[in-house]
Amino acid sequence: METKAELVFIPSPGLGHVASAVEFAKLVLATNERLCISLLIMKHPADFGVQSYLQSLPSLSRLRFIDVSIDPKLVVELLSNKDRFLYDFIDGHKQKVTEFVTNNITSNNSSSSQFGSTRLAGFVLDMFCISMIDVANEFRVPSYIFFTSAAAFLALSFHFEALRSTSKFDYSESDEELSILGFKNRYPAKVLPKPAKAITPSSSLYYDGICRFRETKGIVINTFAELEPFALQSLSDAKIAPPIYPIHAVFNSDDNDKKQETESIVEWLDDQPNSSVVFLCFGTMGSFEPEQVKEIAIALERSGHRFLWSLRRPPPKGKIEMPSNYDNSEEVLPEGFLERTKRIGKVVGWAPQVTVLSHRAVGVFVSHCGWNSTMESVCCGVPIAAWPLYAEQQMNAFLLVKELGLAVEIRMDYVKDFEGKNPVDVVSAEEIEGALQKLMANGEENEVRKRVKEMQEKSRKAMEEGGSSYTSLRLLIDDFISNIS
Ligand SMILES: *[C@@H]1O[C@H](CO)[C@@H](O)[C@H](O)[C@H]1NC(C)=O
Ligand SMILES: *[C@@H]1O[C@H](CO)[C@@H](O)[C@H](O)[C@H]1NC(C)=O
Repeated sequence: METKAELVFIPSPGLGHVASAVEFAKLVLATNERLCISLLIMKHPADFGVQSYLQSLPSLSRLRFIDVSIDPKLVVELLSNKDRFLYDFIDGHKQKVTEFVTNNITSNNSSSSQFGSTRLAGFVLDMFCISMIDVANEFRVPSYIFFTSAAAFLALSFHFEALRSTSKFDYSESDEELSILGFKNRYPAKVLPKPAKAITPSSSLYYDGICRFRETKGIVINTFAELEPFALQSLSDAKIAPPIYPIHAVFNSDDNDKKQETESIVEWLDDQPNSSVVFLCFGTMGSFEPEQVKEIAIALERSGHRFLWSLRRPPPKGKIEMPSNYDNSEEVLPEGFLERTKRIGKVVGWAPQVTVLSHRAVGVFVSHCGWNSTMESVCCGVPIAAWPLYAEQQMNAFLLVKELGLAVEIRMDYVKDFEGKNPVDVVSAEEIEGALQKLMANGEENEVRKRVKEMQEKSRKAMEEGGSSYTSLRLLIDDFISNIS
C-alpha cells in the first residue's frame, strides 16, 4: 500500500482556532486520500467550549485528535504574565509534541499506525503557534502557517513588523492617514488594530511571530483571490512572505445541538419576504451594556425594517467571559419594545449564524466584522453594516467599507472596552439607523448589495473545479506530498 503523508496540525487554544483547523483539515482530507492528519489539542484552563465541540464531531477516517495537554498547575503559573501567556502556554507544549511525534510518526522510514503506513510530511500551525517551528525543524520537516484572518491583515502585520526595526512608532493618539502595505487607500491611524498602534510588550511578541513566518514553506489564508486581489498582489510584489495559498473553504459548523432554537428561527424567517430582514449578531464575545442596547432598539424600531436580533447578556463588569442569554430580555429593552415590534421582529439569544445568513429572507448583517463572519456574509451574498468591537475587526471594517465596498460603516473606530473602566461609549440610534437605511435603500439596485452579490458569485466560482481556491488548494497539497517523496 502507498505510504501516506501525515500532517501535524496545531491550533491555538480557543474554539474559533480549533474549529477553523478542523474545517481546514476536513477539506485537505476530502481533497486527497494520501493525506492523514493528527490534530493536536492543547487544553486551555478556561476551555471555551472546545471539549464539547470535539465530542460533537463525527469521526473521520484519516483524522485523529491527540491531547497534548500539560500539567494545569504549570498553566496557572504561566497565567501570572498576561502579555506572554499565550506564547508561553504554547511554548510549554513543545516537549509533549516532540514526544507524540517521536512515538507515533517518523520522518524517514515509514511507520505504521491506525492510518496504515505513514511518513511525516509537515506541521500546519496557526498564527500564534510559531514556536512549534522549532519542533518541526527537529524532525526536519517544513512548517506551514494557517492564517485565519484577511490577506490584508497579513500585509499590515508585515508592514509594521518591518517598521519596528527602523522606528519606535506610536499611533495611539494619532489622526494621521498612513500608507500601508496591502491597502489602496490611505489608512486612518484611528482604525489600526491594537498591535499596530504602538510597540508594547505584547505587540512585540506578535511581531516576533510574524517575523518567523518567513521560515515557513507556505501561508494558507482563509480568503480568495477575487476578494483581496490588491492585498495578495502587494504581498507577492513585496517578496516578504513565503508562497501564499488563498483557500477559501465553506465553513458550516453551526451548533447541531441547538435544533429547537434553529427550527424556531428558520420558521420565522420562512414567513418573511426576500432580503427584508436585518440580522444583528456580534460573534462569540459580542454583547453590549444596557445603554447601548436601548439605542439599537430605538434604531430598529424607527427604521421600520424587519429584524432578527441575537441579543446577549454581557459578563459581569471587568470579567472577560463569554456573554450569556437573558432570561428575560425585556429588562434591557425599552418598555413595550417587544410588544410593539412583535409583527416585524424577533429577539433571540444564540443564533445559528450561517443558517441565518444563507436564508433568502436576510437582507443586511449588522456585524462585528470578525473574519469568520465576514467571509460567511460575503459568501452568502449579504451586505454588512460594520460595527467592529476588538482584535483586528476595525481593520476588517475598513477593508470592507473603503477598500472593497462590500459594507457600510456604523462606526469603524469603535473599540469594545472589555475592562469596563471607561464610561460606556454609546453609538447613537441615528448612526445605526443611517447605516441600515443606506443598505436597505433601492432594493436589489443598491450598489453595495449588487457588489456583494457579484462577490458571492465569484466565491462560488473560486471553489469550483479550475477556480482560484480550488487550484490553490491542490497546489498546496502537491507541496505537502512532495515533502515525503
Ligand atoms: C469561526 O467559524 C467556525 C466555523 O463556522 C466557528 O465554529 C467558530 O466558532 C468561529 N470562530 C469565531 C472566533 O467566531
Ligand atoms: C425569493 O428568493 C428565492 C430564492 O432566492 C427565489 O426562488 C424566489 O423567486 C424569490 N421570490 C421573490 C418574490 O422574488
